[in-house]
Amino acid sequence: MKRVAIFISGGGSNMVKLVESMTGDHPARPVLVLANSADAGGLAKAAEMGVPTAVVDHRPFKGDRAAFEDALQAELEKAAPDILCLAGFMRVLTAGFVSKWQGRMLNIHPSLLPKYRGLHTHARALEAGDTEHGCTVHEVTPELDDGPILGQAVVPVLRDDTPDTLAARVLVQEHRLYPAVLRRFAEGDREMLRLSAR
Ligand code: GAR
Repeated sequence: MKRVAIFISGGGSNMVKLVESMTGDHPARPVLVLANSADAGGLAKAAEMGVPTAVVDHRPFKGDRAAFEDALQAELEKAAPDILCLAGFMRVLTAGFVSKWQGRMLNIHPSLLPKYRGLHTHARALEAGDTEHGCTVHEVTPELDDGPILGQAVVPVLRDDTPDTLAARVLVQEHRLYPAVLRRFAEGDREMLRLSAR
């Protein structure tokens, strides 16, 4: 059985879907949900689901990213996960941290990578006049929002979409894609999964 840690920064809706998926014959189980702020709404949801939680607040480290990441690493060593899932974790991790977890760390990003790395992906897709948008699960490498793509889900962009309506349509697919990719990854399957909106 593979052990999975999940890092969040906010509401944690993707985290909830990942945790809910890890039951029955699933090859993995959640062992830790960690947030970089005690305000992250997902912490209470994880606790309700019976998953151990931890907070490593980035603010007291005042930009000392190496010290922040040492604290993250200490929590991970206690929980001893095999796989680390970033799920709306809004801190950029340095190459030093990533190298410790490379090949074992996944991220979900709200665009069809390699398009729109970074922030404001939905507004950027609308501004570009794209007719399709979506989300990507990829292995984390030191380059931001780079790394081997493990799965993508595509949604149509509608004529009257705003960044919010588009984000909501993408999020529905994130909730399908990330659990599906995690299951395959835990089984050792690295082949890219393609989903489309249904
Ligand atoms: C999700 O849309 C995720 O793709 C995005 O943050 C949201 C978190 O929502 N991640 C990024 O933008 C990473 N750069 P959640 O907390 O409800 O899962």
